[in-house]
Amino acid sequence: MKKSFSVLFGLSLLLTAVAAARQAPPPAKPEAAKPEAAGAEAGKPAAKFDQAQALAELHKSIAGKENEPAGKVFMDIDVLQGVTAGQLLAIMEKGYSRALGVTCTHCHVAGNWESDEKKEKQAARGMIRMNTQINNEILPKIKGLDTDHKPLVNCTTCHRGHVRPALNLP
Ligand code: HEC
Ligand code: HEC
Repeated sequence: MKKSFSVLFGLSLLLTAVAAARQAPPPAKPEAAKPEAAGAEAGKPAAKFDQAQALAELHKSIAGKENEPAGKVFMDIDVLQGVTAGQLLAIMEKGYSRALGVTCTHCHVAGNWESDEKKEKQAARGMIRMNTQINNEILPKIKGLDTDHKPLVNCTTCHRGHVRPALNLP
């Protein structure tokens, strides 16, 4: 009896320590530790992802097809079926990247845009679905909201330039 009590007590201490370690804020990472710069070798400048150039190449590759459905022009469109190819690129640049404060490579392997390799791209698809559900199902059911406009959330509402939305004011 006594032994099993102390074993349990020891276990609970351990669990508390694990929980505390989990809650500890992650150490602040210096700018240089960002994935884009991580491949840099001593003396060599990092092969930096050039978002403007990537977008210019993509715009060129869809030239003349900007107004066709994204699902026809691109290879792996699931949740963004309702937009045109031109709109898709604008959403990627001005919507997602800016809202999260990242560049394309946060969710994509540069140049291999259709790949679902990065978990962040998968997460983004879930977020897009959540967003649609909030706007189309949850907000319309809330009584007392002004009816002179359609109440909406978008990525910026929560993310405000950060990958992880804040839970507290700074
Ligand atoms: C927050 C994550 C995120 C960021 C940042 C992001 N994308 Fe995307 N991108 C996605 C998701 C999710 C899809 C798939 C949408 C779907 O399934 O309908 C996608 C699809 C695409 C596609 C279509 C690929 C294909 O052939 O199916 C292209 C092209 C693309 N993104 C380019 C970009 C560019 C360029 C940037 C930077 C300016 C960017 N993306 C930034 C999440 C992101
Ligand atoms: C209602 C608030 C809310 C909205 C709206 C929202 N997000 Fe999020 N997002 C979150 C929360 C909460 C997390 C989880 C953060 C964490 O890990 O604690 C998250 C996480 C993510 C992640 C994974 C984090 C990472 O490592 O990159 C991605 C990607 C993302 N959101 C993209 C989007 C995109 C794109 C949109 C717009 C279509 C969007 N989010 C809209 C609240 C939101």
